[in-house]
Amino acid sequence: MADLEGNLDAHNYGLDTPQVTGAFPIKGASSLDFGMKHRLARIFKEDGKTVMLAFDHGYFQGPTSGLERVDLGIVPLAPHVDALMGTRGIFRSVIPANSDNAVVLRASAGPSILKELSNEGIGVDISDAVRIDAAAIAVQVFVGGEYETQSVLNLTQQIDAGMEVGIPVLGVTAVGKELTRDARYLRLATRMIAELGAQIVKTYYCEEDFETVTASCPVPIIMAGGKKLPAKDALTMAYNAISQGASGVDMGRNIFQRLAPIAMVQAVSGVVHDGLNPQQALEKYLDLSKGAQD
Ligand code: 5RP
Repeated sequence: MADLEGNLDAHNYGLDTPQVTGAFPIKGASSLDFGMKHRLARIFKEDGKTVMLAFDHGYFQGPTSGLERVDLGIVPLAPHVDALMGTRGIFRSVIPANSDNAVVLRASAGPSILKELSNEGIGVDISDAVRIDAAAIAVQVFVGGEYETQSVLNLTQQIDAGMEVGIPVLGVTAVGKELTRDARYLRLATRMIAELGAQIVKTYYCEEDFETVTASCPVPIIMAGGKKLPAKDALTMAYNAISQGASGVDMGRNIFQRLAPIAMVQAVSGVVHDGLNPQQALEKYLDLSKGAQD
């Protein structure tokens, strides 16, 4: 405790300088508490955008292509992204605790790919999200799915738990095979997730009217990559999503299933944070990968 000796008289009151609380660059977050904002600011950088690497796929589909060895396929990518989205099992067993990435923790769970994927429940107690130092927790929401209401209540339960401890929730749009991934559906799903209180929403891109999806969602939307596409198409999709209002990307397969994942994640980051257009980003990928063709 500071002692009383040498305690200098205060005198610099800045009387001619009113206190200003800077604008918070993350969409819809201005009214949140400091802790929520501080965690969100670990995910979204000063430009209000994020490059998140998703490798949580194993929680329902096991060691999918590119994730056979997370220590080999994901850890080398960590220095090039802002946030890592994964399961607590992988964070604790594989991800170096001294990585400075924001931790986004998969917090819903249930069926494998052998069963009905929408039949999820709560997969992680909020106390373990605190323990693992999560900057956010992720919950799948199956709007239009067989267990739609159950997944919505998973989301709201985790939002309530997150509010208790100041951890934001990332609501993840899961589109059932029988549903059409168009703007009408994505507007419905993303707006529901935001209305229910999620601080971040993840969804897929759609070619038509994606800007209406981002415009009608009052919190940041980040784009999931979906199945692997040719590099140029994946980079174009990311560029279009950012151009139409997305606050970043949360990509997995289009990065870790690439011939040159480290090159790809740097090209994606160039789109999100450096304003590269698709051609410039592709050239970056080809240059860094020494001509990978995939
Ligand atoms: C599946 C997920 C993934 O996090 C999400 O789909 C992003 O991964 P990809 O870019 O491979 O689609 O929610 O667990």
